[in-house]
Amino acid sequence: MNRVWDPLVRLLHWTLVGAVTIAWTSTLHIGVPGHWHETAGFVAMGAVALRVLWGFVGPRHARFASFVRGPLPTLSYLKLMRRGQAPRYIGHNPLGAWMVLALLLTLGTITFIGWLQTTDEFWGSEPLEAMHTVLAWGLLALIALHVMGVVHTSVHQRENLVRAMLNGRKRPKQAGDVD
Ligand code: HEM
Ligand code: HEM
Repeated sequence: MNRVWDPLVRLLHWTLVGAVTIAWTSTLHIGVPGHWHETAGFVAMGAVALRVLWGFVGPRHARFASFVRGPLPTLSYLKLMRRGQAPRYIGHNPLGAWMVLALLLTLGTITFIGWLQTTDEFWGSEPLEAMHTVLAWGLLALIALHVMGVVHTSVHQRENLVRAMLNGRKRPKQAGDVD
């Protein structure tokens, strides 16, 4: 088996899933204490910051330079995907890569705005509150697309990508796969 996702990538991923779940549910009055919101939000902020740093200094498959591709390769991946001919990627595929960036950017912005709302200068600022809320809904939409993408690729490539994000391993590269 191929080791693809290093322990920090996996730890940060599942930390983000937990922190975002707590931050979101704490606003819904369904039993998760409201005062957990900021703590969970700051945990998410730290995880995003560390993941971005890791994207420059981490091992190969964690590096942005190894998986972020330009618009043209991404479009041709999309076309192949729609024809059911998308190749298997050992790391993130080009579409998944843009989703990774979108998730990190949205989360980074939400948590930064959330933090601003706790400062004296911006406390009670309605425009910031509105942005925070709109982005939080946008994040939910991105997460839904992200999970749909994961399920789609898992089915198409006959490989459980969620398990790979847990144990770090994927089956070895074969002819036609992109590393
Ligand atoms: C709060 C919700 C979520 C956020 C913010 C999130 C964020 C991310 C990020 C940033 C990555 C890139 C990993 C890296 O290179 O560091 C990623 C990958 C991944 N996520 Fe999530 N994720 C979320 C929920 C989920 C859920 C619920 C699942 C399970 C279905 C999931 C499964 C995966 C998988 C399998 C990958 C690797 C995709 C690939 O093989 O290219 N994620 N996610
Ligand atoms: C994972 C990241 C976060 C998500 C998904 C998130 C989401 C939300 C949501 C959905 C609301 C409810 C808005 C409403 O009821 O109208 C909210 C409110 C709030 N959040 Fe966050 N938040 C995050 C991080 C943070 C952080 C890091 C802070 C500050 C440290 C923060 C501070 C606040 C404050 C002060 C409010 C109440 C004011 C308002 O309605 O905007 N949030 N957040």
